[in-house]
Amino acid sequence: MKPQKHMILFVDDDPLVLRGFQRSLDDFSDDWETEFAVSGKEGLECLSKRAFDAVITDMHMPSMDGIQLLEEVSRCHPGVIRFVLSGNTSDAQILKSTHLVHQIIPKPSEMEKIYKIVERACRLRGLLSDPMLLQIINSIRTLPSVPRLYQQLLEQLQSETVSSQSIGKIISQDTAMTAKILQLVNSAFFGISEPVSSPQKAVAFLGINTIKSLALGIQIFSGYQNQSDFPLSVDVVWKHSLQVTKLAYTIACQLKFNAQEIEDTRVAGVLHDIGQLLSFQIPGYSQHVRLNKNGQPVLGTEYEFLGTSHAEMGGYLLGIWGLPNPIVEAVTLHHFPGLQADSSQPDPLTALHLANGLINMCQNEQEETPEAYLDLPYLQKLGLLNHLADWVTLTHKILAEPV
Ligand SMILES: [Fe+2]
Ligand SMILES: [Fe+2]
Repeated sequence: MKPQKHMILFVDDDPLVLRGFQRSLDDFSDDWETEFAVSGKEGLECLSKRAFDAVITDMHMPSMDGIQLLEEVSRCHPGVIRFVLSGNTSDAQILKSTHLVHQIIPKPSEMEKIYKIVERACRLRGLLSDPMLLQIINSIRTLPSVPRLYQQLLEQLQSETVSSQSIGKIISQDTAMTAKILQLVNSAFFGISEPVSSPQKAVAFLGINTIKSLALGIQIFSGYQNQSDFPLSVDVVWKHSLQVTKLAYTIACQLKFNAQEIEDTRVAGVLHDIGQLLSFQIPGYSQHVRLNKNGQPVLGTEYEFLGTSHAEMGGYLLGIWGLPNPIVEAVTLHHFPGLQADSSQPDPLTALHLANGLINMCQNEQEETPEAYLDLPYLQKLGLLNHLADWVTLTHKILAEPV
């Protein structure tokens, strides 16, 4: 069966630009159905008449600019993925829009480039079957950070000795801050040729002043105090993520991954359970989803209640934020790596799956049965089962170390 076409709305106040889009869209008419609006008002009218997957708007328009339009889209049509086209790189508005826009695309851009960015995000919608979840995740503006790290970041940013290394180090330990900074730096808007997966590189690229205005002015990061009635804890997610990162990194080095794969593995470790931070915003989650003894959600109860799990939710969010593919794939499939289309070689997903499964298994002393935690046929196919005993020893060592 042919997949359904994605519905895309273009908004630009210049009719010539719209006509140019229309002409260059011929090559993509099998995948997209498109509509065009010459103002924010007309765009909102289109959105009220039919369901769209994505809106791509110009930033500068009279009466209602791109940001005002997307504010309305986010409020009234939260299921729609939001892109902005902007040609002004020094635009302070761009930074202000980072909490609202899923990705920023430079203007002008070839239609092929726009197509690749938008189509990738639209395809990821298939990870979530429930429109309510799409709406919740599309509406996420900030995610909870570990309060101690958030506080450290604010103090560092206000100190006279602030450096990009010290800021990068703090950000790289926190799931929410890492995701947000990588969303920004990987935005096509900045025109970097290779995707950036290292928070340290992202901070060095953006510069301290940009980070300052994002953190202190626009407040794209937020600290979080656990609510006593919510079963999941940001601290538990954080501690688990750091232990998984340490183990995944060591496994990646032992398997002789290249430098880029090692970096992707490390970042995927920090981000892998970002979907659990999303669950704080899902109504009814705490009543329906059970936690295991390690404080982790039981996957079966997530699937029963949501029709999906924190892994797909996290992968979807990172994907529409434009994070690099190997990280999105590792996060999405970290519980079921056998679903990967091409798994002939160990890669960041392999290291992450092993580390996550082994940490969970070794923490649960009563049930050290690998098949309950690891996809053994997948690991066998990659010829990794003979390493398992050594990795269990390594996991116990990491769990005994302070975080
Ligand atoms: Fe997980
Ligand atoms: Fe995990």
